[in-house]
Amino acid sequence: MNFDKTILVTGGAGFIGSHVIRLLVNKYPNYKIVNLDKLTYAGNLENLTDVENADNYSFVKACITDADQMDKVFDQYKPDGVIHLAAESHVDRSISDPMSFIKTNIVGTVNLLNAARKSWDGNFDGKLFYHVSTDEVYGTLGETGLFTEETPYDPRSPYSSSKASSDHLVRAYFHTYGLPVVISNCSNNYGPNQFPEKLIPLFVNNIKNNKPLPVYGDGKYTRDWLWVMDHATAIDVIYHKGKLGDTYNIGGENEWTNMDLIHLMIEITDKQLGREPGTSKSLITYVKDRAGHDRRYAIDSAKLMRELGWKPTLQTQEGMEKTVAWYLENEKWMENVTSGNYQKYYEQQYTNRV
Ligand code: NAD
Ligand code: DAU
Repeated sequence: MNFDKTILVTGGAGFIGSHVIRLLVNKYPNYKIVNLDKLTYAGNLENLTDVENADNYSFVKACITDADQMDKVFDQYKPDGVIHLAAESHVDRSISDPMSFIKTNIVGTVNLLNAARKSWDGNFDGKLFYHVSTDEVYGTLGETGLFTEETPYDPRSPYSSSKASSDHLVRAYFHTYGLPVVISNCSNNYGPNQFPEKLIPLFVNNIKNNKPLPVYGDGKYTRDWLWVMDHATAIDVIYHKGKLGDTYNIGGENEWTNMDLIHLMIEITDKQLGREPGTSKSLITYVKDRAGHDRRYAIDSAKLMRELGWKPTLQTQEGMEKTVAWYLENEKWMENVTSGNYQKYYEQQYTNRV
């Protein structure tokens, strides 16, 4: 079959990547979508069972830290575009094991940039390297203000520093070699298929199992939450209409303190479990804070809205109801991802933390 273009999506078996893959495979039958993923603990092909047999979809198991493997993938698939999501993504893990973040997020990104540069060999017509990044590169906000594309970088965790470093390298390849690139920096995503080390799936699962809900510090940390499909549609729009060399911030205009969000989660989860709403408040347990915990993130997405016409679609109440329902209905998915090494991680992260 002949396709109009081939897009290599890295990290497509992860949380956000799987929603991006589904969107692209269904929306663009004339594109070949190649999913490159190492299948770390966070990568799960069960996230993609509904598209795995599509004619325009292929999966390749490979590690972005292996430069030779990246060259081979580019030789074999000759992608016109890359949407790069593969990363180590959990801040807490970056505190206990920074080196794996340096390898995957920095070295892995450079391997992909080099493979793209070699493969495209100066012929950049119709080519694009799209790097998916995070708002955490901007550091932390006080009680007011928003991150714009002009906010100076000030990363404060090994995770955000590794993402900031990869952003700089992507821009360096644009300025130095003329590689066509675009970058987006997004706020916290929520929705189905997120690995239950992150706040929302972890807490929904713990409420269901009557386990303690470990709130870091005073619980007054603030995040700007975005429905994961809204991130996927932003990536689609930026891939097709973004200006080369530019950066776009993506956010939900939807700030919540952790405690307010936790109370909302408790209300909705209790209700869906048939419990008196609020019963699970007794599970709230304040634990030792995350080291270097960023106080507040909030994104100004005005540029993306104004220039490319994107906007978020889902309100939190509805989004959270859908999210909770998905985790409660997909028991087998939760069981599979929390077996094996998950228990070990959980014990190391949360035992004796109080
Ligand atoms: P995730 O941890 O759920 O998924 C990461 C995926 O990358 C997994 O499928 C994993 O197997 C794969 N991967 C990891 N190391 C790899 C390697 N060496 N080679 C190949 N594949 C590898 O992450 P996510 O939450 O879906 O985040 C995806 C991207 O979006 C990341 O770059 C992250 O920094 C960024 N981001 C995430 C959020 C968020 O709220 N989750 C917000 C903004 C930006
Ligand atoms: O802002 C974008 C970032 O959002 C992404 O780049 C990251 O990949 C993604 O993991 C996310 O980072 P956070 O650190 O904000 O997400 P997390 O779900 O780990 O934590 C959200 C908030 O909840 C944060 O203030 C820490 C707090 N928390 C988290 C956990 C796991 C708790 O209080 N208890 C917990 O057990």
